[in-house]
Amino acid sequence: MSMQDDLAAIEAQVKEGLAAAQTMEALEQVRVAATGKKGQLTAIMRMMGKVPPEERPAMGKLANTVRANVDAAINKRKEELSRAVLDAKIAGEAADITLPGRSLSLGTQHLINQIREEIEDVFCGLGYTVEDGPYIEDVYHNFTALNAPVDHPSRAASDSFYVVDNAPEGKGDLGLSSSDLLLRTQTSGVQVHVMEKQQPPIYMICPGTVFRPDTADANHLPQFTQVEGLVVDEGITFGDLKGTLDYFTREIFGKDRATRYRPHFFPFTEPSCEVDVSCGVCHGEGCRFCKGTGWLEILGCGMVDPNVFKYVGIDSEKYTGFAFGIGVERVAALRYDLPDLRMLMTGDERFLHQF
Ligand code: DAH
Repeated sequence: MSMQDDLAAIEAQVKEGLAAAQTMEALEQVRVAATGKKGQLTAIMRMMGKVPPEERPAMGKLANTVRANVDAAINKRKEELSRAVLDAKIAGEAADITLPGRSLSLGTQHLINQIREEIEDVFCGLGYTVEDGPYIEDVYHNFTALNAPVDHPSRAASDSFYVVDNAPEGKGDLGLSSSDLLLRTQTSGVQVHVMEKQQPPIYMICPGTVFRPDTADANHLPQFTQVEGLVVDEGITFGDLKGTLDYFTREIFGKDRATRYRPHFFPFTEPSCEVDVSCGVCHGEGCRFCKGTGWLEILGCGMVDPNVFKYVGIDSEKYTGFAFGIGVERVAALRYDLPDLRMLMTGDERFLHQF
């Protein structure tokens, strides 16, 4: 076979191979076999030196033409294949723009925030201000200035989330250094902040989140909401406390719910009470929801202890006051007979949309 025939055969073979190649990989195989380092066409080009000098120009010209044809054919097929790949991709990803969009369902205000705002409305109507306080609190405001003795169990690391121990090197007196920092365990510290910057008369509430290392169960959450209240003025009595909190419970729970004031102990009030509301499920008869007692606890309260006034420099001979702390999750549970406080933390719209 002459070199001309070989060249013609290679060109034909390449064209045939390209026509059959359906993928880029198959095309590449054809290219390598022809014009790769060890390809047939490359081999012939290398042999050009052995062609008799008089035939060389014609043969060289022919070889170059074949090489150009082969390259052109390869490039053309490459373009066809890449267009096919792109077309297939576009077809595969085609979106039907006539389909209706996916609509996001509209959220609602969380039940806890609804009740918190309702409580704010009740007290704003009585002329109270709404104050704010820090979530990260120092031991002085969370315990010490609230008259909590150094051995009060609530100071223990197991009952509070401490974040900074400021005890001198090596002493580790968590909960005793006034500058130790913790996530506030109660909003009562805001009483101290407000009395530090404002002289009586004081009529304020402070709603906010508090934190305790409790495992979540039906009645406990490690993070929950309180509304603190503080009144300091001349001539404030326990009668004012009771009148105010009875008004609050009637506004929130309705007129048919009774209240009960049970003596209790809090370091920062004396005397102190816990207030129960009659059970809405059994109306005081006693049921599973109220653990058979007919009552459910919703807040702590009392007359401000003169020791607290001493810490903030208010004259306890001239002024008296009362304070209270309402558990907002409890209020929600009582009003809607929620069997488990954890329902409030799930973010489940089927639950939240009911309120
Ligand atoms: N801080 C108390 C608690 O978390 C609740 C409380 C009780 C607040 C009596 C008060 C109060 O202001 O007077 O259990």
